[in-house]
Amino acid sequence: KSILVIHGPNLNMLGTREPQHYGSQTLADINQRLQDLAHADHARLDTFQSNSEADIIDKIHALSVNRVDYVIINPAAFTHTSVAIRDALSTVKIPFIEVHLSNVHARESFRHHSYFSDIATAVICGLGAEGYFAAYRYIQQL
Ligand code: DQA
Repeated sequence: KSILVIHGPNLNMLGTREPQHYGSQTLADINQRLQDLAHADHARLDTFQSNSEADIIDKIHALSVNRVDYVIINPAAFTHTSVAIRDALSTVKIPFIEVHLSNVHARESFRHHSYFSDIATAVICGLGAEGYFAAYRYIQQL
């Protein structure tokens, strides 16, 4: 299996950023754990973080050439704003799982709507970093 994990804006600040919502693990910790899981399974896993909507779109477009089996994406605040990233995922037609660390439905109402959920295979929110690992395990058993 080959998997690309995309982390959206502000997730580079994990560890210090609002730990009551997002936990104390850093993004490097999460990525390392994902790499360890993939290594054990002889799977190919890449991780990418950007604070820029354009860079995330370009990264997704690149998948039309360098295809992967699956994407795991936490679009972060772009979840609630970005038709453009949604359209990029539809363009390359690669299945994806949407992950959020926090339970967005227990938070402000502007976080309740996602531009991604209706075209995602699944949505995991509220499990903290475990959400990424659960998404990985689901993909790996396909
Ligand atoms: C988030 C939830 C979003 O509402 C927020 O803007 C984020 C992170 C999460 O992982 O819980 O940046 O996607």
